Amino acid sequence: MCGIVGYIGPRIAQEFLLEGLSRLEYRGYDSAGVATFSSVSDFEVHREVGRIKRLALLVHDNPSPSGIGIGHTRWATHGAPSVMNAHPHRSSQGELVLAHNGVIENYDEIKSRLLKLGYEFSSETDTEVVANLISECLRVRRQRYDQGVAGERSLGMDAIKDAISQLRGTYGLVVMIRDWPDTIFAARLGSPLVVGVGDGEHFIASDASPLVGYTDRIVYLADHQVAMVTADSLEVSHRDHGLVDHDVHELQLDVGSVELNGFDHYMLKEIFEQPDALRNTLRGRLSDDDATAVLGGLNLTPSQLRSIKRIVFTACGTSWHSALVGEYMMEEIAQIPVEVEYASELRYRNSPMWDNTLVFAITQSGETADTLAALREMKRKGHRTLAICNVIGSSIAQEAEGGIYLHAGPEIGVASTKAYTSQCLALAMLALHFGRLRHLGYAEGRAMIDQIRAVPDAVQKALESNESVARIAAKYKDCQNFLYLGRHYNFPTALEGALKLKEISYIHAEGYPAAEMKHGPIALVDSRTPSVFVMPKGFIYDKVMSNLEEIKARGGPVIAIAAEGDRRIEKMTEDVIYIPHVSEFLQPIVSIIPLQLLAYHIAVLRGCDVDKPRNLAKSVTVE
Ligand code: G6P
Repeated sequence: MCGIVGYIGPRIAQEFLLEGLSRLEYRGYDSAGVATFSSVSDFEVHREVGRIKRLALLVHDNPSPSGIGIGHTRWATHGAPSVMNAHPHRSSQGELVLAHNGVIENYDEIKSRLLKLGYEFSSETDTEVVANLISECLRVRRQRYDQGVAGERSLGMDAIKDAISQLRGTYGLVVMIRDWPDTIFAARLGSPLVVGVGDGEHFIASDASPLVGYTDRIVYLADHQVAMVTADSLEVSHRDHGLVDHDVHELQLDVGSVELNGFDHYMLKEIFEQPDALRNTLRGRLSDDDATAVLGGLNLTPSQLRSIKRIVFTACGTSWHSALVGEYMMEEIAQIPVEVEYASELRYRNSPMWDNTLVFAITQSGETADTLAALREMKRKGHRTLAICNVIGSSIAQEAEGGIYLHAGPEIGVASTKAYTSQCLALAMLALHFGRLRHLGYAEGRAMIDQIRAVPDAVQKALESNESVARIAAKYKDCQNFLYLGRHYNFPTALEGALKLKEISYIHAEGYPAAEMKHGPIALVDSRTPSVFVMPKGFIYDKVMSNLEEIKARGGPVIAIAAEGDRRIEKMTEDVIYIPHVSEFLQPIVSIIPLQLLAYHIAVLRGCDVDKPRNLAKSVTVE
């Protein structure tokens, strides 16, 4: 969703802002803008609807040498995508500009108050309310202090603190105030902000990707923190408690990880990055000596882990599908009861307290609003909360009491691919870890380690199906409906395969347990509705084959994802995509590969914007 960038230092701010905004495009947006300080102490604000390219044209016609500025990509919440609603917004008296991520829930009530005080509004956004509220807080502060103090930068900081303490909702804010033309103020609550530390310059962004190639030193702001940033100083304070220390972390991303590197789309690049992403997820985490997975980040002692009686996985979207895979793994391998909950439902349910429940939030971005809220709700109820997360320093990573980082590298395509397979692999290691603390023997543990280690190469091999998948995509690209069917470990794969197709090609697709399809979806089967059967060899193979025959008998075309060497399936259907053999519990990680490719090729053939599908956002930071 919305993205923020800011720059202060010797460079031309507009250049960094535009590049930074392009790097944030993946989050999903509908309009964008930049603001810089002009030499005559005013702001130059440029805003445009649509792609960053259009904003860039506007900026190129109005270049500014300014070394200080802020920028924003907006994903409409309050008010349609339009130039007037795009950020940055000015206060009505024009003494400040501001960009905002998040949602202000009490904006209406604040707006009524400000209208009575004479403030004017030119947009429908909740953000403009914050701009005018800070303006009002500045006025009050100035009245309270004598003129001498009024010139101090801390007055700006105090006014921002006064304003944000009146806000209900979430915000990542960057603010420039005319009285302090060498300063950017930033504040966060529930919407991420990072500060990149350079030599004589600072960068601000809503995630680390715009910083890559500019600096490898990064400060993650925490909730309720406010930062005062100049070219060579960074002061962080808590909204209510004055100055706080800030740790500078090393940013471990290189430029290649946020660029296309010769691929046509980020999604394709990320699909092909999966073998390496999986290797990175595994790195240093498998111990042959102890025949277990080493997951120190869980921050729990073996005896605490042994006392766990129930696990709740909570997530949204694709991450929810990996949670389902995790449920099958944990119950089978570790014999622990698992519940998988949509975070958006869990946050408002009053499920009974149950001692020794461990809650995992599973999330690529670590910023999904519902997942964060569900985690907080579970914490409030006294459960221990952990995260399985890709983005280091993200809100959920900060709030969870521990967890597993995926180390899959930045995922930019809106449709999640490498994060999904890395989540499944992390969950496999989690199941091994728990299993070894309970009933799994050394030999079983060692065997599982070998099976887990084989996954990246199997995924590499599965990627060789790319060309044959592209041919199959061409054959079916004009269909209006698809069914995706699988059982046991491959039921979540069916759901995820269908979601991939829906997200990026806008074709209606339903994922279903293969046998359950008789109770409804079979009514959809006709010669124009392909069924994708996910059926690598396993104990349930024969049963799935019967389900396949039921579809064939009704004239439905079938595309099968099957194990190498499966001759029987060859006779059943003309479109088979073969995948290498891995243990059953690891099949979801391999069998999803051709389904990601199928969705990708169909979307490309239909002329869809694969990396930025309509209406979707990479990181859903609103409820
Ligand atoms: C959005 C994305 C999905 C993602 C979901 C959950 O809907 O478009 O790809 O699966 O959010 O995101 P998370 O970052 O929490 O995994």
